[in-house]
Amino acid sequence: MKKAFVKSYGCQMNVYDAARMVDLLGREGFAETAAIEEADVVVLNTCHIREKAVEKVYSELGRVRDLKGERLQAGRETTIVVAGCVAQAEGHEIIHRAPAVDVVVGPQSYHRLPDLLRRAKAGKVVDTEFPLDDKFDHLPPRRVAGASAFLTVQEGCDKFCAFCVVPYTRGAEVSRPVAKVLAEAERLAAGGARELTLIGQNVNAYHGEGPEGGAWTLGRLVRRLAEVPGLARLRYTTSHPRDMDDDLIAAHRDCAALMPYLHLPVQSGSDRILAAMNRRHDADTYRRLIDRIRQARPDIALSSDFIVGFPGETDADHAATMRLVEEIGFAGAFSFKYSPRPGTPAAESPDAVPEAVKRDRLAELQALLDAQARAFNRDTVGRVVDVLIEKAGRHPGQVAGKSPYLQAVQIEAGPDLIGRVVPVRITRLGTYSLFGERTEAASAAAA
Ligand code: 5AD
Ligand code: SF4
Repeated sequence: MKKAFVKSYGCQMNVYDAARMVDLLGREGFAETAAIEEADVVVLNTCHIREKAVEKVYSELGRVRDLKGERLQAGRETTIVVAGCVAQAEGHEIIHRAPAVDVVVGPQSYHRLPDLLRRAKAGKVVDTEFPLDDKFDHLPPRRVAGASAFLTVQEGCDKFCAFCVVPYTRGAEVSRPVAKVLAEAERLAAGGARELTLIGQNVNAYHGEGPEGGAWTLGRLVRRLAEVPGLARLRYTTSHPRDMDDDLIAAHRDCAALMPYLHLPVQSGSDRILAAMNRRHDADTYRRLIDRIRQARPDIALSSDFIVGFPGETDADHAATMRLVEEIGFAGAFSFKYSPRPGTPAAESPDAVPEAVKRDRLAELQALLDAQARAFNRDTVGRVVDVLIEKAGRHPGQVAGKSPYLQAVQIEAGPDLIGRVVPVRITRLGTYSLFGERTEAASAAAA
């Protein structure tokens, strides 16, 4: 049997796309392998969000080229595919820089991968179009998903934050129709999924066509999905503050299946920088929004993304970000040094912040965010939380899952619990996860 190795970089959307490419290649007779040296097809599903992510891809391509050479000496061919956002942004340039690559395919056209692989036998192929046909209609039905699965409901972004490549690589915002989302959710639930994470670059801007024609909001979609038999939990990511509408906030109050966790990037706490970033909201608007969300769901775990060292960021701007973080208190967050991306408005800006300043600001911010994350996790110790058991644990006799707050939890139990939501008393804090024991006591938090 032919084998395919598929590796994903970057965001959850890429993880989802990579899984769909595995399904697609499965239909073409490829078995997935984790051993790259035995793969007849190697797919790198790439990320363009920061320069570092792109450099990682090119260094991996160097290794894959060497493997391709070794396999050829042994009489075996290897087709190298670069998919994802680097493919979309750099197109033919990839083949110039890395001539061993056979196929370059963007995130909107990977459903044509089987055809592209056939064409690659005759020469290099680049497909970075935004085809009009719905790629989801061309993908095979999802395979059994595991207890927790991603479901793409929306793609692309119309926000044009000044630092971000997504509107260029993923294109304009498009929502999948409600009926298609529902059908995929029902299939996933029938295949064993208990939790769905609805994903999209700007997921709370969801406005998919409803069965009667009008557009549905994400809040309405969430409530409908909560009725799908078998589904116990729903999450969504990633959101923009401007699209957190009242209905979605209300769903956090009255839809028990919607988990108390929200990733709502703010990027900066300085109004001046937020304006320069074209975020179209200020820091106080974000604070008030968080207040409303916490009124609806007081125990909600909040997460965010931050960029330090955006062009023109002063010490005072950075201090405003630190203040915002201190005031809000995040359960976890991602923070990055600003990285100029070709083609984005901010990349033209003359006021670059020196690398050493970026480094110091990032270290200071991360120390605060790490302390907040530890404090949040420590607060869970002693409590009973519902855990969705997803897989075998790190050690024999353990299984692992997630709390409602997206914390990783390990318990001593057998694999028969996989796919079940069980109350767990959290007993201690590890480095990467919480440890707990199964209990009969009902959890304090709904889940
Ligand atoms: N530089 C640094 N971080 C970036 N992000 C997006 N673009 C850039 C960039 N040019 C971060 C933002 C976004 C997350 C996915 O990546 O914080 O929310
Ligand atoms: Fe990028 Fe801004 Fe769109 Fe998020 S909202 S994907 S940061 S342009």
